[in-house]
Amino acid sequence: MDQIVIRGGQRLKGRIPISGAKNAALTLLPCALLTDEPLTLRNLPRLADVDGFGHLLNQLGCSTTIEGSRPEDFGRVMTARATTLTSTVAPYDIVRKMRASILVLGPLLARAGEATVSLPGGCAIGNRPIDLHLKALEALGAEIELASGYVKASAPGGRLTGGKFTFPVVSVGATENAVMAAVLAKGTCVLENAAREPEIVDLCNCLAAMGAEIDGIGTETLTIEGVDRLHGATYRVMADRIEAGSYACAAVITEGDVELVGAKADEMEATLAALREAGATVEETKAGIRVAMSGRAQPVTLSTAPYPGFATDMQAQFMAMATLGTGASLFTETIFENRYMHVPELARMGCDIQVKGRTAIVRGVDRLVGAPVMATDLRASMSLIIAGLAAEGETQVNRVYHLDRGYERLEEKLQAVGADIERVSAG
Ligand code: UD1
Repeated sequence: MDQIVIRGGQRLKGRIPISGAKNAALTLLPCALLTDEPLTLRNLPRLADVDGFGHLLNQLGCSTTIEGSRPEDFGRVMTARATTLTSTVAPYDIVRKMRASILVLGPLLARAGEATVSLPGGCAIGNRPIDLHLKALEALGAEIELASGYVKASAPGGRLTGGKFTFPVVSVGATENAVMAAVLAKGTCVLENAAREPEIVDLCNCLAAMGAEIDGIGTETLTIEGVDRLHGATYRVMADRIEAGSYACAAVITEGDVELVGAKADEMEATLAALREAGATVEETKAGIRVAMSGRAQPVTLSTAPYPGFATDMQAQFMAMATLGTGASLFTETIFENRYMHVPELARMGCDIQVKGRTAIVRGVDRLVGAPVMATDLRASMSLIIAGLAAEGETQVNRVYHLDRGYERLEEKLQAVGADIERVSAG
C-alpha cells in the first residue's frame, strides 16, 4: 500500500492550480441519467470517486467517454450519454464503496419511474442516514419500500407528481436528490430549507442548462417547475473550494505565500474569514486567491454549519493549522457526530487537543514532530498532511487511498510550491 512521506519545514511558495470540485462532480454526473442526449462535463477532477461514479453510470446503461485531455493536464472532459437505461439498480458493492452513489436515486426515479438503490450504511464520520432523501422523494409523489438492504422507489403512473417538502435539517445530498427528481415531475415542487452550498448552485445551473426550470437558485427555497424532457448540455464543474481551503491552511502553517489559481472567493467566504482570523493575508487576485502568512497562527473559534457557515469539510484542516497556533483555539462540530478522528493521529505528532463531545480545544504547541500516522477519512487525511508539512522530521501518512478520493495530484501540487513530499510504495 502506498504511503505519503513528508519531510516538514519547507515554506510553501508559488501557485497551486485548484481542480474541479469533487462534490460538485458527484452530483453533476448523475444528471446525465435525466436525458437521452449527451451531457459533457468539463474540468472534472481526476479522482477515484469520479471514476467510480463513471462505472456506476456504465452499469445503468449510460456510456461515458473521456476526451481531449493529456495525462499531464489537470481536469478532464467526460461525455456521458444515457440513450436508454438498461438498469435502474445501484448495487450494494458499488454503493458501499462510494456513498455518493445514492445520488442516482432521484434521477433514476425521474427518468425511469423506478429505482433500486442499496442503503449506504454507516461511514467513518458517522451514521449518515438517508431518511431525508426518502422523505423528500415521497413528498414529490414517490412510493418507497425498504427491503433486504435496498431502497426500492417508484413513481405511480411512471412519473413523479410534484409537491412541497420542508427539510427539517439542512442536507446537501437530500437536496440534490430531490432537485434531480423534481426537474422531470409532472407538477411543481417546492423545497424549503434546502441546502445552499455552491455545489447545489452548480447542480441547479447545470440542470437549467439542460432545460430545467428552477427558481430561487442559491436560496433556501427552490421552486421547480417540472418539464417533459431535458436536453444535453456542456457544463464546466466549479472549482473545489475545499481543496482550495485545504492548501490555504497548508500555506498558513508553513508561513508560506501561495496563489490558489481558479479558486473563487465568493464561494468560500467563511473559510477566508477564518484564515483572516488566524492572521493570514487573504486577497483576491486576477487568477484566484492569494494566502500569505508570517509568524504563527492566532487562535480561532470555529463552529461548523451549513453553507454559508463554516464548512464541516474544512474543520480538520483548520484544526491541524491551529496546533501550532499562539494560543487556544475552539472548534465545535455540529454536522457529523464522529468527525474528530484525526485528533489521536495529530496527537502522535505532539499536538495538544482535548475533545469533549462536539467541541475540541486545541492549545498551540511550539513544535510538531513527524510520525507515522494513519488516514481515516478524506479530510482527516488532509489534516495529517498539513501537520506533516510543518512538523520536524519525517511524517509517513498511511492509507492514502482516502486522499486519492478527493485530492487530485496532491504530491505534485505541493512539490511544485516547495514541499518535500513524495508517494512511496510500501509494498
Ligand atoms: C455532503 C458532502 C460532504 C459534506 C456534507 C456536509 C458530498 C458528496 N458530500 O455530504 O463532503 O461533509 O455534505 O456539508 O457532497 N442527514 C440526515 N438524514 C439524511 C441526510 C442527512 O439526518 O437523510 C444528516 C447527516 O447525518 C448530517 C447532516 O444531515 O448530520 C448533513 O448531512 P448532508 O448535508 O446530507 O451530507 P452529505 O450530503 O452526506
